[in-house]
Parts: sequence; structure tokens; C-alpha cells
Amino acid sequence: MHLLLLFSSFNLIVLAHFTSSVQPLCHDDERSSLLQFKDSLIINKTVCYDSSAYSKVASWNTEDCCSWDGITCNEVTGHLIKLDLTSSCLYGSINSTSTLFHLVHLEWLSLADNDFNGSEIPSGIINLSMLSYLNLANSSFSGQIPWEILELSKLETFNTSFNHNMELQKPSLRSLVEKLTHLKELALDEVNISSSIPHILANFSLLTILSLVKCELHGEFPAKVFQLPNLHYINVQDNENLFGYLPEFERSSLLQHLILNGTRFSGEIPYSIGNLRFLVILNIRYCNLSGSIPSSLGNLSSLEELRLGYNNFSSQDSRSLSWIDLSCINLVGEIPSWLMNLNQLEILSLSSNRLTGRIPFEIRNLTQLSFLVLHSNQLQGPFPSAFYDLKNLRMLDVNSNNLSGIVDMDMLLHKLKNLVVLSLSSNNLSLLTKTNVHTKFAKFQVLELQSCNLVEFPDFLQNQDQLLELDLSSNKIVGQIPRWFFSFSTHNLVVVNLSSNLLTGFDQGPVSFSQTGIKSLDLRSNKLQGSLPIPPLNTMVYLVSYNNFTGEIPPSICNSSSLEVLDLSHNNLSGKLP
Ligand SMILES: *[C@@H]1O[C@H](CO)[C@@H](O)[C@H](O)[C@H]1NC(C)=O
Ligand SMILES: *[C@@H]1O[C@H](CO)[C@@H](O)[C@H](O)[C@H]1NC(C)=O
Ligand SMILES: *[C@@H]1O[C@H](CO)[C@@H](O)[C@H](O)[C@H]1NC(C)=O
Ligand SMILES: *[C@@H]1O[C@H](CO)[C@@H](O)[C@H](O)[C@H]1NC(C)=O
Ligand SMILES: *[C@@H]1O[C@H](CO)[C@@H](O)[C@H](O)[C@H]1NC(C)=O
Ligand SMILES: *[C@@H]1O[C@H](CO)[C@@H](O)[C@H](O)[C@H]1NC(C)=O
Ligand SMILES: *[C@@H]1O[C@H](CO)[C@@H](O)[C@H](O)[C@H]1NC(C)=O
Ligand SMILES: *[C@@H]1O[C@H](CO)[C@@H](O)[C@H](O)[C@H]1NC(C)=O
Ligand SMILES: *[C@@H]1O[C@H](CO)[C@@H](O)[C@H](O)[C@H]1NC(C)=O
Ligand SMILES: *[C@@H]1O[C@H](CO)[C@@H](O)[C@H](O)[C@H]1NC(C)=O
Ligand SMILES: *[C@@H]1O[C@H](CO)[C@@H](O)[C@H](O)[C@H]1NC(C)=O
Ligand SMILES: *[C@@H]1O[C@H](CO)[C@@H](O)[C@H](O)[C@H]1NC(C)=O
Repeated sequence: MHLLLLFSSFNLIVLAHFTSSVQPLCHDDERSSLLQFKDSLIINKTVCYDSSAYSKVASWNTEDCCSWDGITCNEVTGHLIKLDLTSSCLYGSINSTSTLFHLVHLEWLSLADNDFNGSEIPSGIINLSMLSYLNLANSSFSGQIPWEILELSKLETFNTSFNHNMELQKPSLRSLVEKLTHLKELALDEVNISSSIPHILANFSLLTILSLVKCELHGEFPAKVFQLPNLHYINVQDNENLFGYLPEFERSSLLQHLILNGTRFSGEIPYSIGNLRFLVILNIRYCNLSGSIPSSLGNLSSLEELRLGYNNFSSQDSRSLSWIDLSCINLVGEIPSWLMNLNQLEILSLSSNRLTGRIPFEIRNLTQLSFLVLHSNQLQGPFPSAFYDLKNLRMLDVNSNNLSGIVDMDMLLHKLKNLVVLSLSSNNLSLLTKTNVHTKFAKFQVLELQSCNLVEFPDFLQNQDQLLELDLSSNKIVGQIPRWFFSFSTHNLVVVNLSSNLLTGFDQGPVSFSQTGIKSLDLRSNKLQGSLPIPPLNTMVYLVSYNNFTGEIPPSICNSSSLEVLDLSHNNLSGKLP
């Protein structure tokens, strides 16, 4: 019987040799191992991240397992060499008795995006010694990565990112890289490593991907790793005790992603960063870098995302960029002129710096801009007419600068039809609020007009029915709050600030706003008089201090059960507290 079997399998091989189109059938033992593995788990749609995902194992029922979904067999031997069960909605515990570990010919295995219910990586993995690719990411494995992984000496890709409570301490990262010397891709995001990065990693000349996000790394990052000739992705963000320096970069570098935010890298950005001609993302926010930002950044012709904020750069100095965040980095002087060449820019944030001077007229050339955030600087000069040409703007925030002159609201409303967030607060601007009727105009969601020299409620607000937040504080608005004000946007308004004006009362009585959905209402420092109005039922913050309300506090105020902050001080209220 034994002999016969041997003989027939010999025939099969010979046949395969001569007619290469005929693939050997899958091996029975591998077929049954697969089926037992499948049966040891549940298919549970709720563990699938992608709701359109389907479980590959569901269709495992025909005779030839080599034709099953997710499976690849060796064309000559018929052995199973690749098993791809990514996002297969598999749920359940797994241990070394799993028949998965009988598939000893596997070279490629992905169990990523399933839910192994907090299982440890089973030591039976040692059986899969042919593996060159192993992906166990985001599959709810936990615990210590086992020593047996170190015996998989052919591994080129190892990815155990995004599991819960996973550790690489015994064995250590050092042992891992000392044993797995063929690694090309190493991803251990969110694995608690709690060590420094071994310098030997700089000898991995084939390394292409290194991803060690949030690994509790400490010590000095070996700068030579950045210079590895094949490296194109490096991400060590969110390791707050990892320090290091950026080396000189060669023109031969293949780096595409350089992500260091939330680490303690210090020193300067070398001018040679401009050599990284393939760089797509540079994110060094929240580091400790200093010196000047080199103008060679303008040479990064592949760059799509540049995030430099929250460092200690002293001064300032890119073409297909669509996205620039230079907020809070201590920029001084004028808005850098090289920015005005980046006519593909969609997002520009320069907020919270010490920028002075005028907003350059050339900003008009940035026609793709949809977010322009310049708040908290010391910019001067008139509100640039160039803004009216930025037709794609959705957010314009110049809050807290020294801009002066006149803003024509009619022009803004009908030229910038996509604008939803407008903040002009705290400048020396005056608003021209006379508007004409247009068929289509901007509908704001957030409108901040603090300190804009307003003397009356702007009429155009009557047509703004999408408003969520409105700030008209610190103006000189006189008289009554008009009847239409609390009815135009009853359903949407959440935050309203009318404080520090010269308001005396409510046209048509104070009941007008008690039907609204306002959660925060600030009426402080006006000249409101009469009896105290009851806030809307769901109001959380109600501030009416420094007015001239008289009489008793109505007991019905106690129905406003959402109230968290209530300030009635400095009025002429009398009687008992309800
Ligand atoms: C499916 O997975 C969810 C999340 O892990 C779990 O709470 C639930 O009990 C599972 N359902 C079944 C039938 O196992
Ligand atoms: C991991 O999977 C969960 C759901 O299974 C999903 O919500 C999460 O976004 C995934 N995380 C990553 C980083 O892919
Ligand atoms: C998941 O793990 C818990 C706790 O270890 C265990 O009680 C439960 O049976 C496991 N569920 C499955 C489907 O393996
Ligand atoms: C391993 O898992 C199998 C089936 O899931 C279970 O019957 C067995 O008790 C487990 N063995 C250990 C040692 O946990
Ligand atoms: C390793 O593979 C052999 C051969 O298929 C098998 O007999 C053994 O049970 C496997 N070990 C584990 C831990 O699965
Ligand atoms: C690790 O695998 C997960 C799931 O397949 C994937 O989303 C992630 O990009 C991989 N990490 C790296 C650095 O390639
Ligand atoms: C990571 O491991 C270290 C050393 O075992 C431990 O002190 C630390 O609390 C762990 N961190 C987390 C977030 O579990
Ligand atoms: C790393 O490479 C350097 C230079 O090529 C060599 O001197 C050193 O011995 C290598 N280190 C190890 C641990 O292989
Ligand atoms: C780093 O950047 C990523 C993505 O931009 C972000 O999710 C993360 O919070 C950042 N970490 C720090 C410390 O800024
Ligand atoms: C930040 O860098 C400076 C040198 O530029 C250094 O003196 C300081 O210790 C660094 N701070 C941290 C938290 O690493
Ligand atoms: C900006 O646009 C003007 C025309 O409005 C043009 O003359 C000028 O060359 C443009 N500048 C840049 C840097 O593209
Ligand atoms: C407060 O209101 C009372 C009458 O309601 C009026 O006599 C008084 O002058 C007002 N005080 C101020 C400071 O407006």
C-alpha cells in the first residue's frame, strides 16, 4: 500500500514536469489541516474592520485546496506556500495545538485584521521555519512575542503592529535583530519594547520599512539607520523618550516617509534634506529641533505633506505641496515669500507664530487654497483684497492680528461661496455689512466677529441658517436684540456670544430664545434690563453677569437641568434663591 502511494505520487510529479499547465492537487494532510484550522475559529462579521469584507474561509469546501481563496501552492510540489487570511473576520483563541502549524511549507502568512481574542503568538510558530513574510497586525494578539519567532531565520517581513498589550522584552528587540538578519520590513507599532534601538540595525542594508510607533523606545536613535540605502519608510512617532539627530542626507536616498513627531530629536534640519527627492511626507511636529528651517525644503519636489509645528526653530525660510502646517514654530518676520510659489497649496496654516508685515498680495496666486489659517500673529496692513479671489476657501481665520481697513461682507458672501468658517475677530477691522440679495452665497457654520466695530446686528445674519457658533462680542451693538435673531437658526446655533456690547433688551420679550437649542449663551456686560430670562432647556453655560436685570430669579430656572455654569452676578436681582 505504501509503495503504491509512493509510486502514484511519483507519476504525478513526472506528469507535472511534462505538461506544465497541470497543477498538482493539494496534499490531503494540508487540506485537512486547513479545515481543522477553519473549524477552530468562528466567522464573526463584527470583528471585520471593513464592513464589505468577506471571509475567505467561507468558500473552502471544494476538493482542491490549492484553488481556495487566500491560498497559493507551489506549482511543482503542490505544497501550500502562501496563506493570506487578511481581514477574514476570524474570531477565536489560538494556541500551539492549532493545525495551522502543520503547514510547514508556508513561506507567506498573513492573519492581519482578524480577532484572535487576546491569544499569545503560539510557540508552535517555530514550525513555520520557511516563512519570509509574517503579518499578524491588528489581530488582537497579546503578550510577549515568543522566542520561537527568532528561529524563523528566513523572515524578511515581520509585522505585529496594532495588537493589544504586546511586548518585545524577553526576547528583546536586540535579540530579534541579531537573529533575523534578513529583515527588510519591520513593523512593531504599539508593541511595548521599552529599550533603545540597537545600533546593529544600521547594518541592515536591505531594510526598506521601519515602523516603531509608540513603542516606549528610549536612548539615542542610531542616525546611520536614516542612511540605509534601501530605506523608504521610517516612522518612530510617539516615542517621547527617544532622542537623536538628523544626519546628512545623500541624493541616492530612497526615503519617502520620514515621520518623527512626538520624539526628542534635536539639533538642526540639515540643508541636505533637500536631497530627499522622493520624500512625500515629512512630519517632525512636537520634536525639539532648532536652528532655521532650510530653504532647501523647496527642492523637495515629491513632498505632499510637511508638518514642522511645535519645535524651536528660530527663523524661517517646496512646489507640488498641497498641505503646509507651520503653526506654532516660532516663525518671525514676514510671511515667507517662497510659500507664494506653491500654487497647488490647499491648506496653509501659519498660526501662532510671530509673523509681522502685510499679507502678500501674491497670496492671490494660491487659487487652490481651501483652508487659510493665520490667527495669532502680528500681521498688519489692510484686509487684502486678494482674499476675495480665493474662491475655494472654506476656512479663513485671521483672528488676533493687527489687520485694519474694511471688510466687504457682500463681496465675501457672494465671491467665496464655499466659506463655512470665517474668523475676523480681534483685529482693527471694520465691516461693511450692507449686503444685496444673491441666489447663492456663503452659509457660515462658524462666524467670529469679535471686536469688529459693529454698531448693529448685521442684517445678513437673517439668511445664515447653518450657523453653529456665532461670536459678536466686544462690539458696540446698541439697543434691542432683534426679533429675528433667535428665530433664524433655531435648530443649529449652539454657541452664542453677545457679551460686551450695549444691548438693552429683547425685541418682543425674552421668551424668544428659550425655544432654541443653544448650549452656551454669553450675554455678559451689556445693559440688559427687566426680569431675568430663562435659558433654553438644554443650555449648559448661561452667563448674564454685569447687566441690569431686576426682580426675583424665576423658580423655573431649576428646570434647566443641563446647566453646568451659571453666572448671574452683578445685576439688580432680589428675593430668595429658588
Ligand atoms: C463577535 O465578536 C465580538 C467582538 O469581539 C464579540 O463581542 C462577540 O461575542 C462575538 N460573537 C460571537 C458569536 O462570537
Ligand atoms: C484595526 O481593526 C479595527 C477593527 O477591527 C479598526 O477599527 C482599526 O482601525 C484597525 N486599526 C488599524 C491601524 O488598521
Ligand atoms: C476568548 O477569550 C476568553 C478569555 O480568555 C475565553 O473565555 C473565550 O472562550 C474566548 N472566546 C473564544 C471564541 O475563543
Ligand atoms: C488549545 O486550544 C484548543 C482548541 O482551541 C483547546 O481545546 C486546548 O485546551 C488548548 N490548549 C491549551 C494548552 O490551552
Ligand atoms: C510541527 O509540524 C509537524 C509536522 O507537520 C507536526 O507533526 C507537529 O505537530 C507540528 N508542531 C506543532 C507545534 O504544531
Ligand atoms: C502592517 O500590517 C497592517 C495590516 O496589514 C498594515 O495596515 C500596515 O501598513 C503594516 N505596516 C507597515 C509598516 O507596513
Ligand atoms: C512597558 O513595559 C515596561 C517594562 O516592562 C513597563 O514598565 C511599562 O509600564 C509598560 N508600558 C505600558 C504602557 O504597559
Ligand atoms: C556592522 O557593520 C560594520 C561595518 O560594515 C561592521 O564593522 C560591524 O562588525 C557590523 N556589526 C555587526 C554586529 O555585524
Ligand atoms: C503625530 O502625528 C500623527 C499623525 O499626524 C498624530 O496622530 C499624532 O497624534 C502625532 N503625535 C504627536 C505627539 O504629535
Ligand atoms: C532640546 O534640545 C536642546 C539643545 O538644542 C537640549 O539642550 C535640550 O536638553 C533638549 N530637550 C529635550 C527635552 O530633549
Ligand atoms: C502670480 O500671478 C501673477 C498674475 O496674477 C503672475 O504675474 C505671477 O507671475 C504669479 N506669480 C507666481 C510666483 O506664480
Ligand atoms: C437699571 O434699571 C432700572 C429700572 O429697571 C433703572 O432705573 C436704572 O437706571 C438702570 N440702571 C442702569 C445702570 O442702567
